[in-house]
Amino acid sequence: MKNLLITGGAGFIGSNFVTYMLNNYTTYQVVVYDKLTYAGNLDNLLSVADDPRYRFVKGDICDATAVAQAIRQYEIDTIINFAAETHVDRSIMDPDAFIQTSVYGTYVLLEATKRFGLERFHQISTDEVYGHIPPGYSSKETDKLDPRSPYAASKASADLMVNAYFVTYGLPVTITRGSNNIGPYQYPEKVVPLFATNAIDGEPLPVYGDGRQMREYQYVLDHCEAIDLVLHQGALGEVYNIGTGVEIENMRMVEILLDELGAPRSLIRHVADRPGHDRRYSLDIGKIRALGWEPRHTAEEAIRLTARWYRENEWWWRKIKSGDFLAYYQAQYGRRLAEAPTTAG
Ligand code: NAD
Ligand code: TYD
Repeated sequence: MKNLLITGGAGFIGSNFVTYMLNNYTTYQVVVYDKLTYAGNLDNLLSVADDPRYRFVKGDICDATAVAQAIRQYEIDTIINFAAETHVDRSIMDPDAFIQTSVYGTYVLLEATKRFGLERFHQISTDEVYGHIPPGYSSKETDKLDPRSPYAASKASADLMVNAYFVTYGLPVTITRGSNNIGPYQYPEKVVPLFATNAIDGEPLPVYGDGRQMREYQYVLDHCEAIDLVLHQGALGEVYNIGTGVEIENMRMVEILLDELGAPRSLIRHVADRPGHDRRYSLDIGKIRALGWEPRHTAEEAIRLTARWYRENEWWWRKIKSGDFLAYYQAQYGRRLAEAPTTAG
């Protein structure tokens, strides 16, 4: 493993992973292959832009010719696939691109892995493929997939395809299923950066429903370390859950965030819930722990670090929270906020 193609590497987790790998492996070459959708952003990669071991290729993973050209040109031996449409609310509004990228695009990358005899294909997946998890249980890698949003279904489809290529063609694949990541460079449609930036501006925080849904918020660099471990020590054909093993209620996340930013609880608005909203995700992380990995941050530490990063990096998010984002925000929240009671509930 020395020449990595990191698809979706201009997004949130992918860009953190690129920086992490360049910092930790002096002999690796890293090629970011990214379509630069609304969520892709070369500002995320400014710190490595002048590194001679880094290259950027603008391209779609659904484009088999362009994928093949990048593999040939840069003598790629490993693909790590972060490319996806990633926001559940957008998948409810318009699922098409989710299916194109995660289903067809993953197939294109698997075919390329087979054709060029690559050393490894690694798929970045999510805890959302397991669906809602009742209290008292945590998902194991062998559990049945039960995705309930178009986003989760597109990711589960990709996982099934990756496994099929392992079983049928013996492709050297691995899959990691991460819980909710937070940290630097997360597009502010996701809840923690959305709420942090709204709170900084004194704008309301639209909490879906009662806010008692549970998520396993993990710090993005912890996730990157675990992916690195699976790349180097994971068994082929295997799936590894990555999270903190501890889920918290959204309302608790909101309280920590507001406290860290010194913003008042009166910004909280309970708004109409997301359709089909999964109440709880929870991962059993025993398998990745057995490889020797432990998360370095609790959810609270991750939320505080993330809130501080957004407070200190307005240069990054102010230009995103304009233009198309405002149209999206109005479509997603305009009516919900207009109909919400104005006091914290
Ligand atoms: P993101 O939305 O920030 O970034 C996605 C990146 O993929 C963007 O740079 C985008 O331009 C690129 N992309 C989209 N479609 C593409 C295509 N057809 N071809 C090439 N590039 C394309 O997403 P993220 O939060 O960084 O998530 C990265 C991966 O991790 C995704 O596969 C996601 O499902 C998975 N994941 C995310 C989380 C999370 O909490 N964010 C948790 C678990 C798993
Ligand atoms: P999100 O960041 O969209 O991630 P995911 O849906 O993939 O878990 O949402 C995290 C949680 O926050 C989820 O329970 C939905 C909730 N949420 C809100 O309450 N309000 C919001 O405006 C958003 C975007 C999410």
